[in-house]
Amino acid sequence: MLHNEIAAGMQGPSPVPFSTYLEFVGRSVIPESSNMSSPRCIGHMTSAVPGFMATLGEVVTALNQNLVKREASRALTILERQALAILHKAVYNRDEEFYARHTQDDASTLGILNSGGTISNITALWIARNASFGHCGERESVEDLGIAAALVRHGYRRAVIICSSFAHYSIQKAAGVLGIGERNVLAVKVDRKGCMDLKELEATVEDCRRSGDRIIAIIGTAGTTDCGSIDPLYDMGAVARAAGAHFHVDAAWGAPLLFSDRFRRKLEGIELADSVTIDAHKQFYLPLGSSILLVRDPLAPQVIEKQTRYMLQEDSGDLGKRSLEGSRGGAALFLHAGLHVIGPEGYGLLIEDNIRKARLMSWKLRKMAAFELLVPPEMNIVLYRYLPPALRRAAAEGRLTHADNAVLNQLNERIQKVQSDQGRAFVSRTTLLNLHPDTPVLALRAVLGNPFTTKADIDFVLADQMEIAERLVGSPPARTNGTCRPHSPMHEEATGTDC
Ligand SMILES: Cc1ncc(COP(=O)(O)O)c(C=O)c1O
Repeated sequence: MLHNEIAAGMQGPSPVPFSTYLEFVGRSVIPESSNMSSPRCIGHMTSAVPGFMATLGEVVTALNQNLVKREASRALTILERQALAILHKAVYNRDEEFYARHTQDDASTLGILNSGGTISNITALWIARNASFGHCGERESVEDLGIAAALVRHGYRRAVIICSSFAHYSIQKAAGVLGIGERNVLAVKVDRKGCMDLKELEATVEDCRRSGDRIIAIIGTAGTTDCGSIDPLYDMGAVARAAGAHFHVDAAWGAPLLFSDRFRRKLEGIELADSVTIDAHKQFYLPLGSSILLVRDPLAPQVIEKQTRYMLQEDSGDLGKRSLEGSRGGAALFLHAGLHVIGPEGYGLLIEDNIRKARLMSWKLRKMAAFELLVPPEMNIVLYRYLPPALRRAAAEGRLTHADNAVLNQLNERIQKVQSDQGRAFVSRTTLLNLHPDTPVLALRAVLGNPFTTKADIDFVLADQMEIAERLVGSPPARTNGTCRPHSPMHEEATGTDC
């Protein structure tokens, strides 16, 4: 019934008093919303947001600052630049003098705050594309000529972007938007752990050189969307440098590792990147709409600079001069607050705790005959699948056939959908093409990103899946040592199907 009210829209005369509208929100919108903060909703890359962000949200809305220009965001322009400098230092660790000079300097750009990782990645490749063709005055740039004429002018056959087959699909969007073409995104294969195969990268770069292709950028992913794997950034940076290509690291998911003394080494080589994407609305726990593109060279974004008669003038100090988005709200306040209230130390502890939980879950899965751990987690995403009793021995002995895998794929897809529909717990799913040649493997995907998820919640999610599987397969799944039983009733707040 509630669902119908949402589907039908608010009935009755309009306008209505705000109190009436608020009743509608309380009655229909909130109960029908996805419960992103449930600790048993472990399938998304966004989860709980700290309470103080809601308070700041009211301030942001009331102030309604526009970060496109300084005169509409006097304080926030300064805070945004400060926050960007903190993140820049975490990646590039330049000296005090560097930050004293560039943090508030109008001519310098340490980073650009965007509404999402997609925009950050597109902006990185926009900068890379323009820099690749040289920027000899407005009338000679690729911005002016267009990509086809620029290729002819510079004698290249085509422009390409190289990334792994696990790179985020926003790279495809960027290739389309920038006129490079999706077919010119060269996807290098990954190993079983989801990391780019370095030998194949080198061979791809060599092919491009021989064919007269311009490599716009080589992209490493630090925390892939599928499984959180991290490409060999250090070696990739060296390959990119030798090829004269822009090196971009998409650390939308993996960036908080920068703040962990224990795990920072996993990002070794990120400092070689010309640009880095960080999604603050993922593991920095900011409200949605916060992503950062950092640039190593503060002058690099000049190749995307725009000016108008009425704002963004050369000496204006307007951040909108060098960003893809125009008008932009006060996300800077959330970022600045996160970096001061939770702080780098807090973010380090949070990511360490998330990784600890992912390892705990993997350990449980390994011990349970009913499940198969598919990819040992590099960070805090766990890929696994349910095995029905009839296929457990074959799986343990590595004798699963193509047909067996097809059966498993169907069963696991149904388990995921039924669990999602029941609404007591949630994991997502993905399909892996890198585990068996010619055999796609459907994986259940647990994202351990919610600080409130406990061991008992993980047990609940797995027990729920075993019960669903039991119903679907029609026979009781064998339990191992009772490792995974429901420990507590479902969290009160988890009401949505896609919590
Ligand atoms: C690795 C990676 N890059 C980029 C993105 C795109 O981010 P957004 O959804 O904020 O545009 C995602 C989103 O999940 C991602 O996982």
